[in-house]
Amino acid sequence: MLHEKAEIKNLKLPGPIGAGVVARETAMMTTGTKTAPIVVKQASGLMLEDVDGNVFLDFTSGMVAATGHSHPKVVEAITEQANRWLFINSPDFYSPLQAEVAEKLAALVPSLTGKKVFLCSSGTEANEAALKAAHWAAPTRKRVIAFLGAFHGRTMGANSMTASKAVQRARFTPNIADVHHVPYASCYRCPYKMTYPSCDVWCARIIEELYFKQLIPPDEVAAMFVEPIQGEGGYIVPPSEFIRIIRDMCARHGIAYVDDEVQAGMGKTGKMLAIEHHGAAGNFTSLAKALGSGVAVGAQIMDAGYDFGVQGAHSNTYGGNGIALAAAKATLEVMESERLVERAAEMGAYFIGKLQELQSVHDGIGDVRGKGLMLAVDFVTSRVTREHDTEMRDRVTSACYRHGLMVLPCGFSAIRFTPALVVDREQIDRAIDILDRSIREAKGA
Ligand SMILES: Cc1ncc(COP(=O)(O)O)c(C=O)c1O
Repeated sequence: MLHEKAEIKNLKLPGPIGAGVVARETAMMTTGTKTAPIVVKQASGLMLEDVDGNVFLDFTSGMVAATGHSHPKVVEAITEQANRWLFINSPDFYSPLQAEVAEKLAALVPSLTGKKVFLCSSGTEANEAALKAAHWAAPTRKRVIAFLGAFHGRTMGANSMTASKAVQRARFTPNIADVHHVPYASCYRCPYKMTYPSCDVWCARIIEELYFKQLIPPDEVAAMFVEPIQGEGGYIVPPSEFIRIIRDMCARHGIAYVDDEVQAGMGKTGKMLAIEHHGAAGNFTSLAKALGSGVAVGAQIMDAGYDFGVQGAHSNTYGGNGIALAAAKATLEVMESERLVERAAEMGAYFIGKLQELQSVHDGIGDVRGKGLMLAVDFVTSRVTREHDTEMRDRVTSACYRHGLMVLPCGFSAIRFTPALVVDREQIDRAIDILDRSIREAKGA
């Protein structure tokens, strides 16, 4: 068993056994989004060992395994559940476990009108459910609004809302009709070249002042999909005013507000839902990733009024399977008993301070941003022009892997850090040390 504080060691990437697996996967699997030739053997807490004995500090998986790799309580819960029942057609039948998980999920989102929960297996599926429910509730509203830089999934419905990188949409036309994208509140590189707060949040106000008058009749819009912090798009934290203005706009025009918490939710930002930082709440809340600690679980938590209400209008097979339910229940319990949301806020404050110290010694870091343990550094060719330094970001990322730190890119020039919420100060210090060394090495390259 890999000790959760194991030493980073060996670091020949990929080793001889790993290289063989990489070749086999490359031969057999479709092209996806590979970042590094890490071939996993086992993982525990924040540590991951590959098949050649390389041991890494994993600052990527907390996005999903937020309770840490193979948290013992989650493993115990799913093992017990596997011995009880793995699968009943949960959309067709009933179980106390499903009722309990739905109740716990509904309680995560403040509501005056009551909530209904749709269980599924991914973030994409949670967003698809919101898309369908919003259309079902308002059949004459055919349009949807989403934001540039957004990521909402990759099936054709969700992909039609995704607009983070052109390659995600290239050749997939036609997307579903009438999804309108507008710029997000991305203040570090404002799409309107304005400065907050003197801009008076023009990026939010323009929707009503121009788009609704010239392009998008608001009474034809079923839903607006919004990430409370853009994830794949670059860990972009909008001013809370932006979220509150568009939330209020949706309420006034009868547009369903879909809060996509798939990446930012489940405690990572130091609040259970990231939208809580903005003092708002959605009509729909999409959850997945960290909800299952690594087991595929998704959930759409919607205002009860959006429930389909008609048998057969929407359903699935694997929502509410035994392992998913046990994993979600155990994850919520561990988050509470280990106070992981509070811990994310505390460790995040320590981590961002350390990243800012690095920024003060490395000119290439233009921006340090994020909330809690959802953090990123953005590399620029110049702090004045803020031009993306994608090459530098990629060199730093590779160097981090060579020194034993797993990280992922996001946006066009950022590295994101999403350690499990059980991370401690010592592990953050090790990550900072490796990042520092990697930047020095990448600069010299
Ligand atoms: C904000 C957001 N929404 C939706 C998705 C899609 O989730 P999944 O990959 O589980 O389908 C992602 C995945 O990265 C995401 O970050």
